[in-house]
Amino acid sequence: MSPTDATKRARRKPEELRSARWFGPDDLRSFGHRSRMMQMGLDPADWEGKPIIGILNTWSEFNPCHTHFRERAEHVKRGVAQAGGLGLEIPTISIDESFTKPTSMLYRNMIAMETEETIRSHPLDGVVLMGGCDKSTPGLVMGALSAGVPFIFLPAGPMLRGHHAGKVLGSGSDAWKYWDERRAGNISDAEWSGLEGGIARSYGHCMTMGTASTMTAIAEAMGLCLPGASSIPAADAGHQRMSTQVGRRIVDMMWENLQPGDIVTEASVRNAVTVAMAMGCSTNAVVHLLAMARRAGIALTLDHLDALGRTTPVIANVRPSGTTYLMEDFFYAGGIRALMKQLGDKLDTSVTTCTGLTLGQTLEDAEVYNEDVIRPLDNPIYREGSLAVLYGNLCPAGAVIKPAACDPKYHQHQGPALVFDSYEEMKKAVDDENLAVTPDHVLVLRNAGPHGGPGFPEWGMLPIPKALIRQGHRDMLRISDARMSGTSYGACILHVAPESFIGGPLALLKTGDIIRLDLANRRLDMLVDEAELEVRRAGWAKPEPRYQRGWGHMFQQHVTQADEGCDFDYLTRDFGPAAGDPAI
Ligand code: FES
Ligand code: MG
Repeated sequence: MSPTDATKRARRKPEELRSARWFGPDDLRSFGHRSRMMQMGLDPADWEGKPIIGILNTWSEFNPCHTHFRERAEHVKRGVAQAGGLGLEIPTISIDESFTKPTSMLYRNMIAMETEETIRSHPLDGVVLMGGCDKSTPGLVMGALSAGVPFIFLPAGPMLRGHHAGKVLGSGSDAWKYWDERRAGNISDAEWSGLEGGIARSYGHCMTMGTASTMTAIAEAMGLCLPGASSIPAADAGHQRMSTQVGRRIVDMMWENLQPGDIVTEASVRNAVTVAMAMGCSTNAVVHLLAMARRAGIALTLDHLDALGRTTPVIANVRPSGTTYLMEDFFYAGGIRALMKQLGDKLDTSVTTCTGLTLGQTLEDAEVYNEDVIRPLDNPIYREGSLAVLYGNLCPAGAVIKPAACDPKYHQHQGPALVFDSYEEMKKAVDDENLAVTPDHVLVLRNAGPHGGPGFPEWGMLPIPKALIRQGHRDMLRISDARMSGTSYGACILHVAPESFIGGPLALLKTGDIIRLDLANRRLDMLVDEAELEVRRAGWAKPEPRYQRGWGHMFQQHVTQADEGCDFDYLTRDFGPAAGDPAI
């Protein structure tokens, strides 16, 4: 599709450019702005009458998923220049998933704040957001939605399939799987180091249906990417061409004055949720979808997600919800456009995308090339969507489970709790071969939420106790107020809200209490009577906050709970009127 096919809107005039306020007037301030552009070797012909496009780049030498972004920024710039704009690369914070401690989630809102303020404070007419590794996608999009200039999201693309000794390896999922085997004594040192070298063998984000693949698909389904962009493997030459197309398109989009609010609407958010469910999305999608939608003024709730989850089958056969394939296979099978085509009238295809075309127009020639990878609706890999929302006396504000990724025998379950107050305590116990635990036990980790973790870490796939692994068990029911990686799997109940650290009822649970999960009725309860809970509540002492200063201090004062998206209260749309453009 050529960007020139885009819907013709009333075109902006050069003097209406936001950047013209910085560079146009004959006054002292503008003299300063122009002379500083010239200091960088630019000539007035480089910017006069041209849109200035910020290329917000999350490249870093500590972000293996974004290694190619240094070069991709040049491809975007080339496209911007071809379309008559000036592209300027602006480095923004790069929060990677692999190295950031205590958890990258502590910093998602920092990405969002930096993005919003960078855009607002600079002479930018439009922006390209370069992200992909988990938190970068929601963070960038949240910030740009609040800043309110035309933008396109440029997804990093998945890395190539992993390989070692004839085995295909999937990011995260196979690390967990083989780690359990190593703990059971089944994997040699040599094989283990072979796996280390083979599981991530090109730039690009994780290539299972983890949080990265989920969130870039969500961005595309919302209309924020060029058609098909989120499925292109990072190392495919098509990814470079797509980057140049993004550069061309953002310039036209800016002239057309196609604003984020024209694209992110109730209907497009609904589409994004539906696509996420059909993809067998990461549980992290819940928190990020809530936060992103609310930045756009759309009051998405957990109940909306559960309702769409009940009616959307999982049709992407991509691990960990799927059985066999990875994102590279998904791309060869037709990618996200084919999946959206397959979803038919479950999507509202009348919505406008960043192309200026409707979603329906961008899907016209989409086709499924492998129906085992992208299944027909009547042959899904899982009949209901990948996520379910639970309520009960353990989680009055909700909890999340991924039924598609756990052994169905745990969908209805009753068993005694085995409760841990910290990750260290839990880790020690599960490695104890003499731990008194049965497959019916329910492992519980608390103090792992937004305040308790701190930062809401991905600890929710609690390791199966060694004692059970040796007996051949590989799944059991687990509960925490943590998140889990999108590449994780198993009968894990997550995001328990309110979290235990701030006095949520999970804090009152004791080892030996009976827990009942009733997935069909979406219930999660501890079978402890209210009088006893009242006694325990009276004896509960609020722990000291995790941080006394710095970002963590601000985070714990303002972060909302999982059911509200963990945005900061003062960044949400209804907190106060938008800041508007700065005085110059
Ligand atoms: Fe970057 Fe998984 S580590 S996406
Ligand atoms: Mg992840």
